[in-house]
Amino acid sequence: MFKMISVFRVIGKVHSSVRRLPARFLSVSSTLQSEDIIYDQIAVDRIRNFSIIAHVDHGKSTLADRLLELTGTISAQAGNKQVLDSLQVEKERGITVKAQTASLIYKHKGQQFLLNLIDTPGHVDFSNEVSRSLAACDGVVLLVDANEGVQAQTVANYHLARSKKLVIVPVLNKIDLKNARPEAVAQELFTLFEIDPDEVLKISAKHGTGCEEVLKAIIERLPAPDANRNADFRALIFDSWFDRYRGALNLIYVKDGMVSVGQEIASCHTGKSYEVKSLALLQPDEKPLQRLVAGQVGLLGCNMRTSKESNIGDTLYLKKNKTCIPLPGFKPQQPMVFAGVYPGDQSQHPYLKSAIEKLVLNDSAVTVNPDSSPALGQGWRLGFLGLLHLDVFSQRLQQEYDADPILTAPSVTYKIHLKGVKIIAAHGGNEIIYVSNPALFPDKFQVEEYYEPFVLGTIIAPTECTGPIIGLCVERRAIQKTSINIDNDRIMTTYLMPLNEIVVDFHDQLKSISSGYASFDYEDHGYVASALVRMDVLLNGTMVDELCTVVHISKAHSHARELVLKLKELIPRQMVQIAIQAVVGGKVVARETLKAYRKDVTAKLYGGDVTRRMKLLKQQSEGKKKMRAIANINVPKDTFINVLKR
Ligand code: GTP
Repeated sequence: MFKMISVFRVIGKVHSSVRRLPARFLSVSSTLQSEDIIYDQIAVDRIRNFSIIAHVDHGKSTLADRLLELTGTISAQAGNKQVLDSLQVEKERGITVKAQTASLIYKHKGQQFLLNLIDTPGHVDFSNEVSRSLAACDGVVLLVDANEGVQAQTVANYHLARSKKLVIVPVLNKIDLKNARPEAVAQELFTLFEIDPDEVLKISAKHGTGCEEVLKAIIERLPAPDANRNADFRALIFDSWFDRYRGALNLIYVKDGMVSVGQEIASCHTGKSYEVKSLALLQPDEKPLQRLVAGQVGLLGCNMRTSKESNIGDTLYLKKNKTCIPLPGFKPQQPMVFAGVYPGDQSQHPYLKSAIEKLVLNDSAVTVNPDSSPALGQGWRLGFLGLLHLDVFSQRLQQEYDADPILTAPSVTYKIHLKGVKIIAAHGGNEIIYVSNPALFPDKFQVEEYYEPFVLGTIIAPTECTGPIIGLCVERRAIQKTSINIDNDRIMTTYLMPLNEIVVDFHDQLKSISSGYASFDYEDHGYVASALVRMDVLLNGTMVDELCTVVHISKAHSHARELVLKLKELIPRQMVQIAIQAVVGGKVVARETLKAYRKDVTAKLYGGDVTRRMKLLKQQSEGKKKMRAIANINVPKDTFINVLKR
């Protein structure tokens, strides 16, 4: 199943070998060991809550390691090991998936400062995590690779930080590289964002050069949090995860007042109340505390037993205060890509259900709805922020919960304006419906207008790749909006494009035509009216729900041809001849015939070769278990997934 995920080759990277820091970086003069610090006595004006935001691979986790070392939070002996990337999938792929937090103590001009660092993922699919992390921040370090320059995600992150009115500390990383061009990249920052080149710090996170300056800039340039310790306790939940023994743990930013272990708290959203069981700062391991005070970021455990109780964006308050005004939460991002998830066999259903529930608590951006399919049984339709998100989720299911589900090919959600009183009544009186399962896509005669989700894509690429990139975008029905020359060699172009055209392999194709140099990011652009049709697939006249797709009318014929040819390849020859047909609006648009296969490979095996005969028979019967029978045709289950890949 994970072969479908070759789409993500481009994103994985090989971690650098662990290297030790030069001795000069081990002398952390400003460091304080956390033992003797009374955290709640650090005044609000000596707290800084910040995040590091950057394009994927520009060195956030490495810089975070250096900051942790410089403040004595972790030992420098460990070298470059990306301490905040704690999930197995993060270590394997070298990407940050889950935002993590660490509270650092740093002495500046004779005073102790508490710096709450929130590490964020860089990939476009995880912008939800970035936006959530920023809700607890007053400023950001905008990290840009001095070799690669500004990339699409840098642009997106910059605008996200600006929209939240956060102070930005621009930092150029990897200045140790031979090809680093810090002056030119600082100029890019000026051209695109009007950032004064004199304000840009130049560092090498790998070697530690200039990292202390980053800490100083954070203290000097960022404001203290707008927190009030004398008010009644209010805290924002901005992340949560599930602990097998302690239930849901909430990462909170305390905006007002304070909270102590043993106090009764309540949730604004659900109205439920809880006793605070544990409080801790993350360093990045938990450091238990008796209380958390305004301005701090910490972990709160209160025996929340189910994932539904811990809501990101919810406000917690003291139960004795009866009510509270909720803190401005943040709008959770809508899922963009949907896929069916089914247990390998139905006996694993309860186990997979509980694994999904626990993982969703760790990843609130995933939506879950029960679904069923004649071929694959009872399962769920999950919504993800993008394909990498989907892939990482299924990999985590496998690694953390030892579950091995079947995933169907991804699809997007269409908006449909229905017509006709009867049709609308049949949909519960709703004129507008949203459909993410192509099998439920209504026919044209029931519909006033179809709409499909569009995104605004930003592509930054070398100028010489412009031709092929335009070709790719046109082929994917994209419409160019703007184009800016970043410098003599690189160009930034924005496109309006249908999400459906980019979910499967757009990023892969883009990387391949630009030899890996182009970067891509997108943001939601809402729904646009579109000429869509549903394409059904019939095997010997029987419709196969799982193979249904929704395509743009201009692509119906080419897609139908591709689909039937692929099915012909994927379905094994059988005892009967199989007609494979693609049908649009009742009309067959493409057809292939799979010839019957009569030879019985075990027939001649008699006499001495009993073992081989037994082995072949066993293989055949095991193979059949993995098949779905449609009109007496056995279709391997993974066909439903493989066929929709381009
Ligand atoms: P994501 O978590 O995937 O978003 O990546 P990231 O931005 O956290 O990048 P990470 O810290 O994982 O670093 C990416 C790669 O760049 C790693 O191989 C680092 O060793 C390397 N790297 C980071 N900083 C420097 C630097 O200053 N100089 C050099 N030469 N390499 C660096």
